[in-house]
Amino acid sequence: MKILVTGGAGFIGSNFIRLILEKYPDYEVVNLDKLTYAGNLDNLKDIESDERYSFVKADIGDAGAVDKAMSGIDAVINFAAESHVDRSIGGPADFIMTDVFGTYVLLEAARRHEVGRYIQISTDEVYGSIAEGSFTEADRLEPSSPYSASKAGGDMQVMAYHTTYGLPTIITRSSNNFGPYQYPEKIFPLFITNALEGKKLPLYGSGKNVRDWIYVTDNCEGIDTVLHRGEIGGIYNIGGGNERDNLTITGLILEALGKREDMIERVPDRLGHDFRYSIDCSRARALGWTPAHTFEEGVRATVDWYVNNRWWWEKIKSGEFARYYREQYGK
Ligand code: NAD
Ligand code: TYD
Repeated sequence: MKILVTGGAGFIGSNFIRLILEKYPDYEVVNLDKLTYAGNLDNLKDIESDERYSFVKADIGDAGAVDKAMSGIDAVINFAAESHVDRSIGGPADFIMTDVFGTYVLLEAARRHEVGRYIQISTDEVYGSIAEGSFTEADRLEPSSPYSASKAGGDMQVMAYHTTYGLPTIITRSSNNFGPYQYPEKIFPLFITNALEGKKLPLYGSGKNVRDWIYVTDNCEGIDTVLHRGEIGGIYNIGGGNERDNLTITGLILEALGKREDMIERVPDRLGHDFRYSIDCSRARALGWTPAHTFEEGVRATVDWYVNNRWWWEKIKSGEFARYYREQYGK
């Protein structure tokens, strides 16, 4: 199989490419990525010389570049997105251009090239917040942030292309991922690296907001399962079954690093902050997929990775990230 992965220089995409090349010796992967602030070829350093892997620097909104990259492709997996809620609150335009318009450009090319599978990587955030119980794939979309609204817009386009043109699409909606190579704007890598640098951990609002956490390679295995065994036209929730509030996450990180709770700094809440995400993953589990890591194993592996890979995050934190952090937190 020859797979076009878009956004493969980001967090989940790079972990996915590594998994595919390890698991399937006869597969080829083309990685098309714009290399935004979040795209980082350091994420793929260990596989860049693999002859089954190639890289194209391009925007998924660039129809010409996308058309060229899609030639001879069997399956497209679209990870490319603006992915950070706080940045979407600061400015939604890039989110609409990439997550909605970029998805449309990919769908058009996939239709023209008659690709065998188009997988859209979406998020549980499209359902919005839920006080009790869990969302199934049949639930309506009620996104709260410009990020989740853009992702929902992308999902709607994908569903329309399946219904209208018979494009063989599948959507995955995963919960919050954590693990190696995550850009340090997200809570896990931000709090781990801040603690290692002796900086405060900015906890929003009450700290009681709940997310379901999945170790990144478990999500990648779920996507691989869906790619090979998922039902065309289907939607699959992929979650870890680890619902924790942010204060608990923060405590676990500090404990793993042997640091004290006085490193926590309470900061004003995120605008429109969803209180709780929760998804029912029976459909994905019925395909034979199940997460391989317990939450505790995932936390240990994640903390250890950032402790042992300062070369990776120190470069990022002294670059573009420093400006973002100053604007966000005033320091
Ligand atoms: P990320 O921000 O780490 O990486 C995004 C990648 O997409 C980067 O390499 C970036 O350069 C690239 N990109 C952005 N705009 C592009 C464009 N216009 N053209 C080409 N490439 C572009 O994101 P991530 O955390 O790896 O998330 C990957 C996907 O998974 C996203 O679609 C996101 O919505 C979804 N998702 C993420 C999580 C999570 O917890 N991280 C959870 C559920 C779903
Ligand atoms: P984040 O990692 O940004 O993922 P998402 O918003 O997509 O769920 O945030 C996870 C949770 O952590 C969310 O409830 C917001 C909270 N949070 C903080 O309290 N402080 C921070 O500095 C960040 C980045 C997030």
